[in-house]
Amino acid sequence: MSLVGESFLSSEQLTEKEIDQIFSRATAFKAEFQRKQRFDHLIRNGEGMGQRTLALVFSEPSTRTRMSFQIAGARLGMRSVALDNPSVASLSKGETLEDTFRNIAAMMPDLMVVRYNTNIDADAVIRDLPCRVINGGTGTSEHPTQSLLDAFTIQEFRGKVKGEKILIIGDVLHSRVANSNLMLLRKMGAEVAYCAPAQFEPNNDLWKGVRSFANLNEGVQWATVIMGLRVQKERHQSVSIGFSMAEYRERFRLGGDQLQHFNPEGILLHPGPVIRGIEFSAFVMNDRRCKVLDQVTNGVFVRASLMSLMLGLEVQTK
Ligand code: NCD
Repeated sequence: MSLVGESFLSSEQLTEKEIDQIFSRATAFKAEFQRKQRFDHLIRNGEGMGQRTLALVFSEPSTRTRMSFQIAGARLGMRSVALDNPSVASLSKGETLEDTFRNIAAMMPDLMVVRYNTNIDADAVIRDLPCRVINGGTGTSEHPTQSLLDAFTIQEFRGKVKGEKILIIGDVLHSRVANSNLMLLRKMGAEVAYCAPAQFEPNNDLWKGVRSFANLNEGVQWATVIMGLRVQKERHQSVSIGFSMAEYRERFRLGGDQLQHFNPEGILLHPGPVIRGIEFSAFVMNDRRCKVLDQVTNGVFVRASLMSLMLGLEVQTK
């Protein structure tokens, strides 16, 4: 993709060079922020930034993604406006999500971040809007900025992504995070495997041939990076998943016993929200290898970097 002027909807769009560009600018922003609690002064052509507008249109719950886009926008000097409560919007009067997107795009924000449940009509419309769109999590398909901040965190703590062994655990079938990560991490030269109950095995072509571990401890022993996933209850609809949460926890929850098999220099990631006791135990959350909050911190710098590149901002990096 060309980072300037295009929408960012899928991890698949990025070239290795663009990933490098995003990461090196995010690193510069983070380093400057640690020194001066700001990084907007690194932007060379930032005149009028206070007039730039970021529109957030979220029709599914979000804590991290929405707020980190807003904070990243504010750090760049932009304003953000958010529509995140469909019950107060015309969606509740019967307007379709596609028409809602068309109308917000007609107000000409500089960037629009969208999140919604699986909706093929909306997927088609966001490709065609007269403003640049960033995918902030669409149904079970993709969440590309999450995969960028995950890869950035791996690079930060493991020194590289290439050659890393990433074990994704849990509800892979319903996880947009897992799909975007598989695409991005493989492009960057990592090996990806998963460990999931039969009912949560991925079934799309993307995952054909991807290694899977039936036994959690074997996967943990193999991995240098562990990525937990939330069980996506809201996406199981009324279909019974065939096992209880107690059974799930018994086989797929990562706790102190499993951690004994993990690389002492490895890292543990989770996109959040973490449901403690189901995916990771409290013990795991307190382990020094757990980088869940570092992921959240990095999300701000990675999103600021991505947005600044999409807006054609030039940054002085010494
Ligand atoms: C995820 C999401 O919404 O896709 N969270 C996030 O954006 N950080 C994962 C989830 O909800 O389980």
